Amino acid sequence: MGGPAHSSAETLTFRDATKHYPGSPTPAVDGLSLEVPAGEICVLVGPSGCGKTTAMRMVNRMIDITSGDILLGDRSVKDRKPAELRREIGYVIQQIGLFPHRTIADNVATVPKLLGWDKKRITSRVDELLELVGLAPHEMRSRFPAQLSGGQRQRVGVARALAVDPSVMLMDEPFGAIDPINRERLQNEFLRLQAELRKTIVFVTHDIDEAIKMGDRIAIMQEGGRLAQYAPPAELLMSPASEFVEDFVGADRALKRLALQRVRDIDLWTAPTCRVGDSTDEVRRRIADADIDIPLLVDEHGHPIGWLSERGLTGERVREELRSRAEPTVDLDDILRDALSDLLAADTLYGPVVDAQGRLAGVLSMQVISSALTITDPGNVPAPADLAS
Ligand SMILES: Nc1ncnc2c1ncn2[C@@H]1O[C@H](COP(=O)(O)OP(=O)(O)OP(=O)(O)O)[C@@H](O)[C@H]1O
Ligand SMILES: [Mg+2]
Repeated sequence: MGGPAHSSAETLTFRDATKHYPGSPTPAVDGLSLEVPAGEICVLVGPSGCGKTTAMRMVNRMIDITSGDILLGDRSVKDRKPAELRREIGYVIQQIGLFPHRTIADNVATVPKLLGWDKKRITSRVDELLELVGLAPHEMRSRFPAQLSGGQRQRVGVARALAVDPSVMLMDEPFGAIDPINRERLQNEFLRLQAELRKTIVFVTHDIDEAIKMGDRIAIMQEGGRLAQYAPPAELLMSPASEFVEDFVGADRALKRLALQRVRDIDLWTAPTCRVGDSTDEVRRRIADADIDIPLLVDEHGHPIGWLSERGLTGERVREELRSRAEPTVDLDDILRDALSDLLAADTLYGPVVDAQGRLAGVLSMQVISSALTITDPGNVPAPADLAS
């Protein structure tokens, strides 16, 4: 992206950061320590009032830190001018917060104008950003916020936060006010955008599913502004650090993990493969060595054709006699949840897995999915003591 100096992402570090509002008996954020690696999304999630917004606003000093510190790169935010921080850190607030009497272009240009960019540079930057978030510049530029849908306004909010190519973005429930279908679209778009932009992002939500989807790491906070656990989503789901975390991620945490694993991440079964004309003796030997005892017929490119029937093996050479077509086929890049859904829909216990070229890569079975979920999950096997209580 053509633009200003501070474009490279920076590590963001909370060091025992504490906020104590005057007159309040307990801190709103209590000794928060965590590091957000440069270019990653850290999701702050937790019940209402647990200090998420407070933690986030200490980063750009909209709220002053009572004790402890927050570092951007290796510089304390306390050594920076608040006005300068607010210009350099992108901020998307829950109600989007567009200026109603300014056009979309003027809204997006808010910070560049403050920084005194020349008109030409502003105009081209605004168009570039609208394009980036999927809004047609010629259509949207001169409209007012009230003339946009909620989802479109949200995109303008994101474009505005990106205007000066910030190294860090703060997003406070950015998709909270959007209906579920559009929210899912905005989430996907934003993840695609982030794959390119690689900003360091603090993202607040109270929705654990959104946290699991958006977060490289998730910080679960609990009452009193205390950090309950900070971990990547898979780890959080596999080994919740406390009963609070376990309750918060939900009883279906094993199922939630299906959305985090891809077919390529797990140990697939092997199938005995054969081609028309192969020696049937040889195929029987392959059957003995494989995880499944039904041979899978493939073509000359290794694309699966179907499961061979007994009759296909009756002669000396394999003949094309199918029990069934090789359906459904599962992609290596599918998430386990979708792959499982395909197997269930086809009423089958297993299906061939193919790579991007459609070549056989293994076999996915219900059993494989089930062991992928259980083996790595110590919490899944109740300890004898738990059973007794
Ligand atoms: N300006 C303030 N003065 C005093 N107390 C405050 C102030 N702002 C927030 N608080 C208190 O600090 C605690 C944390 O508030 P905060 O807004 O950070 O919570 P949150 O996790 O963002 O909640 P929500 O999910 O409802 O947005 C709450 O108990 C709140 O009442
Ligand atoms: Mg809040």
